Amino acid sequence: MHAAIRYQCILVRGKGLIVTIDGPAGSGKSSVAKRLASEIGFSFLDTGAMYRCVTLACLRKEMDLGQIQEVANIASQVQIEFFADKVVLDGEDVSEAIRTPTVTKSIWAIADNAAVRESMVAAQRRWTAGRDAVTEGRDQGTIAFPDAECKIFLTATPEERARRRVSQLLELGVEVNYEEVLEMQNQRDRQDTQRESGGLKQATDSIMVWTDGMTEDEVLQSLVAIVGSKRPTEVNPMAEQPLQHKPHLMPR
Ligand code: C5P
Repeated sequence: MHAAIRYQCILVRGKGLIVTIDGPAGSGKSSVAKRLASEIGFSFLDTGAMYRCVTLACLRKEMDLGQIQEVANIASQVQIEFFADKVVLDGEDVSEAIRTPTVTKSIWAIADNAAVRESMVAAQRRWTAGRDAVTEGRDQGTIAFPDAECKIFLTATPEERARRRVSQLLELGVEVNYEEVLEMQNQRDRQDTQRESGGLKQATDSIMVWTDGMTEDEVLQSLVAIVGSKRPTEVNPMAEQPLQHKPHLMPR
């Protein structure tokens, strides 16, 4: 019965429901967006991982990241697959490799490349076609899915985000300097907000959620409530038909 409610909109509109979650680095988007998707039975698309995969592929080929066309060619050639707990790039599990500081430091050059952004956005739209999905990134509510049914902008003050990052790293046994983390984060915020195409921006029709002082569980609860307020309440008997499960393959 639960699924029937969820799929009513798709039958009516002929497409999946999209929930976009955008926000700055360190706002805790990734983990809460993933939990939200699982809580409401939607697929999850981590678009930051896509930019990370293209960055890693270019670094491995020792390419000059300023070569706009060559980098764009790589972006359109790589095959990125999402599984429950791993990201696979051209057949290799790169879940850890895409999160190294080297990749994070270089990613701006890839994310600034308008041709790369175009192919990433096209792939994001193909991937979500016909599915209910939570997509997370910087430009999801503004560029990738301007007609999304539910748009959330998740944020927190820079200080709170930096504090969270420091404690996350401490939990992993890595000691870092708070001021340095804050400075690097401010730099990423500048790069993300000043980007000419696809820069971090709050969609005018999005709901902003400030997460300062909230636990991840509390953030999750508020997101579930926001999505719930946008979902249909009546049941369509047609929706009782078996659901189609698509593989989580990122089409080229
Ligand atoms: O979310 P995550 O920190 O993994 O994203 C890494 C980088 O990828 C961001 O700092 C941003 O530069 C870029 N990105 C983007 N557009 C998206 C998602 C991520 O430009 N939709």
